[in-house]
Amino acid sequence: MPMCRIFAATFKKGKVSPILKIGLKRLEYGGYDSAGMATINNGHLEIKKGVGKIDEVDKQVNFESLEGRTGIAHNRWATHGYPSVTNAHPLTDCTGNIAVVHNGVIENFLELKADLIEKGHEFKSRTDTEVVAHLIEDEIKSGKDFVDACLKAVKKVEGSYALAIIYSKEPDKIVLVKKESPLYLGIGSDGNFASSDPVAFVDRTNLMIPLEDYELAVITPYDHKIYSLKTETEITRKPVQIDIKPQMIEKGGYPHFMLKEIFEQPTSLYYAINIQKPYLEAISELMNRSKVNFLVGAGTSYHSCLAGSYMYSKIAGLATIPVVASEFIQQYGNTLDPDTSLLLVSQSGETADVLKVASYARMKASTVMALTNVVSSTITRLSRLYLVQQAGPEIGVAATKTYTSQLLIHLLLALEIGKRREKISENEINEYYSKIRSIPKIAESVLKDTDQKIKEVAEMLKDSSHIFYLGRGINTATAFEGRLKMLEIAYIPSSAFSAGESKHGPIALIEKNTPVIFIAPNDSSRKVILGNIMEIKSRGGKIITLGNAEDKELKDVSDVYIGMPESEDIITPILYVLPLQLLAYYTAVLKGLDPDKPRNLAKSVTVE
Ligand code: M6R
Repeated sequence: MPMCRIFAATFKKGKVSPILKIGLKRLEYGGYDSAGMATINNGHLEIKKGVGKIDEVDKQVNFESLEGRTGIAHNRWATHGYPSVTNAHPLTDCTGNIAVVHNGVIENFLELKADLIEKGHEFKSRTDTEVVAHLIEDEIKSGKDFVDACLKAVKKVEGSYALAIIYSKEPDKIVLVKKESPLYLGIGSDGNFASSDPVAFVDRTNLMIPLEDYELAVITPYDHKIYSLKTETEITRKPVQIDIKPQMIEKGGYPHFMLKEIFEQPTSLYYAINIQKPYLEAISELMNRSKVNFLVGAGTSYHSCLAGSYMYSKIAGLATIPVVASEFIQQYGNTLDPDTSLLLVSQSGETADVLKVASYARMKASTVMALTNVVSSTITRLSRLYLVQQAGPEIGVAATKTYTSQLLIHLLLALEIGKRREKISENEINEYYSKIRSIPKIAESVLKDTDQKIKEVAEMLKDSSHIFYLGRGINTATAFEGRLKMLEIAYIPSSAFSAGESKHGPIALIEKNTPVIFIAPNDSSRKVILGNIMEIKSRGGKIITLGNAEDKELKDVSDVYIGMPESEDIITPILYVLPLQLLAYYTAVLKGLDPDKPRNLAKSVTVE
């Protein structure tokens, strides 16, 4: 079950179900079409599960009524098997003694299932995961203990998995297994934990151990052990400190995480400016030395790569190729060699398409580097060097603060490379840095000054059947990002183009009052974009412009004008995207939608 999230805990004393429920709520961003929990009570499995978001399921089943000190829980985002109570996790074997929760995809489940059915196993769900419970059942029947049975069973499974497994006859143990899906152990004093994301247990312990691929761990309330699936020998690994504080995952007084995260940008940008300098320098050095540089990401992270390509070109005279991760191998895989570098950008560091590019590029001996927001994510383990954007946890499914941090870090890298290539003088660098240092303050005033006006624009746009976003140069990326935000959380069909492309086709769709949002800062493309505005205006389009507050000419030709502060062209994408994030947020709220959990989406897409 990809893009789900799992959580497991075992305590020395006390009920586990309330803690599992809190953890599930925090993990809800990862999948929310069904949820479930299993505990061991007096040597028996007790299971509650249902369809819907955690609170809805909880109302139906009352998770906290589950007794027992040991349990596992799951948020599901369906692929194999529609969302239903039977397909919700935990899934069990024929005896009802083994329960499994899973994030990943079992690729050979059809073959395994056919074999198991032949042996007499009865399947209750249509999921790929259920085979794991039956495989373990078989191994236990053949005389193995629980841990050994899990080890042998998992070896038969192909695909990706983070698994948490309990067995009612060995009630203090939880077995965890990892391949390609994230899984972390939490080491506490009252008990131990495991989860797809440490946010689930961050208030119970500040120590965690990230599991590596092909590892199996066993936690009891008193200890933990890790084994290699390949060698079947024990591994020792020291816990590391968790860098997330519990208060950081609360909404901080905002109605939604997305709004909180939008307004956190002055802080997250400040942290981005103060990113680890030695890594910035080392990555710049490798990019500068490479013959070919690719910038690879998905969704919003790809948009930061697109904007970044303009920065590297303009400031450092360095050509970089921005590529959508899911297309990379087909489009450029065959060109990779040791002289090629890839900067992989991924907020979560867990996006399957990006990880696939990382593994492929490593195989071709290219240099793999990463920019991520999650310190111990998989991408950091696949990269030769990585930068952590330090934006803090982003819980809303829509990427906001992590996008502007990514942009800022591309800018810092471009300056470092420009220095190495002698494309920019020490003086110019200092000037850039003083402008960069003012970004957090300016971002704060943009958010404050545009908030009310944007609410009015949202009211105006909320019933639109289509919205266009047009920008030029580096702000083509801003148009793309503004559109993605509107699409994913307000469900309004939207298109974005480089404004120069509008008359090569898209203009055919303009009718009276079609809303068209122009991103038109006072840069070298301002004159041409004014021409594009006139073309749309003369066909009846409703012109909503984000432009320099002092630009009277632009203001006069626009139906709605959002005045922005004067800034360096290369910095404008960081500032101009802010009102567009707010616009998507307020439009979604006005439509009665939950912007933190848009339908069909998950925070990180851990399957291809
Ligand atoms: O974690 P990543 O940056 O790799 O995620 C990439 C995309 O899935 C992500 O940006 C997605 O497009 C967001 N929902 C956009 O708001």
